[in-house]
Amino acid sequence: MKVLVTGGLGYIGSHTVVELLENGDEVIIIDNLVNSKLEVLEKIKKITGKNATFYQYDLCDYSKVSEVFEKERPDAVIHFAGLKAVGESVSKPLTYYENNLLSTINLLKCMAKYNVKKIVFSSSATVYGKPKTLPIREDASLHTTNPYGTTKLMIENILTDLYNSDSSFDITILRYFNPIGSHKSGLLGENPNGIPNNLMPYVVRVARGELPVLNIFGDDYPTIDGTGVRDYIHVLDLAHGHILALNNKIHGLKIYNLGTGKGTSVLELVKMFEKVNNVKVNYQIVKRRDGDIAECYASSDKAKNELGFTCKYTLEDMCLDSYNYHDAN
Ligand code: NAD
Ligand code: UD1
Repeated sequence: MKVLVTGGLGYIGSHTVVELLENGDEVIIIDNLVNSKLEVLEKIKKITGKNATFYQYDLCDYSKVSEVFEKERPDAVIHFAGLKAVGESVSKPLTYYENNLLSTINLLKCMAKYNVKKIVFSSSATVYGKPKTLPIREDASLHTTNPYGTTKLMIENILTDLYNSDSSFDITILRYFNPIGSHKSGLLGENPNGIPNNLMPYVVRVARGELPVLNIFGDDYPTIDGTGVRDYIHVLDLAHGHILALNNKIHGLKIYNLGTGKGTSVLELVKMFEKVNNVKVNYQIVKRRDGDIAECYASSDKAKNELGFTCKYTLEDMCLDSYNYHDAN
């Protein structure tokens, strides 16, 4: 299959491109490098021995997207591109709405024009807001609490309306839980600029002595040890979920959670990280972070039953691989 991967040099996109190339698929990438580096392209080649065709274009520029469709005529699209920092989306809402929505609309217009009907879209567990029941099923109520999350929900709605207008579209919405970990080669991973907001990159930097202490946001939640519980999923398992979604025999509009179905607390993750990497992670308990929820983990039954999706990697692997990437870089 010839697959157009938007945001293919980013964290999840790059891991997925590797798996596509290893499966023998042809890959076209559009990425404007707003949150990634060109060197990732070389690393993908180093891992796979294969080339992906790369266009450094902004998806907000319709003429550029159209040019790629005209030239490449892809069979399917995986749409990762988007801005994803929750805090930044609160301070720059228009930037988020413009980038995430306009890029998607341009892409969908080109898909319609060039008769490309298959798309897999990166949504997020953030669309569930504060869950009423756990584990979270795909039919749970949706509610967002920040502009980033709202762009994801709006795009889900756009895709649903598009499907309702033309049922020859084959649309898969994947709601990711908390991706961590990195490629086994140590060449690909996540290394955010500045001080990380998310737990794993922060833990890694404290373990390396680059940051003095991990602030654990609250130990008074109604959870196993009082700290927040999340469903961490290895990025390689997540990447594999996209391959399954592309090859799904069920056509139409489908929504799947991609998580392990297992909740892990902040303290459990920190202890596991210390154990498998034989390092110390200094931490202190501070007050809860605004907007945080106590617990969030997926029901992964639907993805398992319809896609055959299961997770190969454990929390140990996630902790080892996250540190390994940082070590190697
Ligand atoms: P990332 O920032 O590493 O990758 C996104 C890529 O998209 C980057 O390479 C960036 O340069 C590119 N991009 C952004 N806007 C663009 C535009 N207008 N034109 C062209 N390229 C553009 O993010 P990621 O962690 O790999 O996430 C991929 C997708 O998954 C995003 O849509 C994100 O919202 C979603 N998601 C991520 C997480 C997570 O925790 N990482 C969780 C749930 C959902
Ligand atoms: C983040 C995103 C959310 C996205 C989700 C899955 C934010 C604010 N939210 O949420 O939109 O859907 O990932 O990718 O970025 N923690 C600490 N100390 C830290 C950092 C985090 O104790 O320095 C705790 C948090 O309180 C939480 C857990 O670690 O309990 C995970 O936090 P984080 O990695 O930020 O993910 P989410 O809060 O799930």
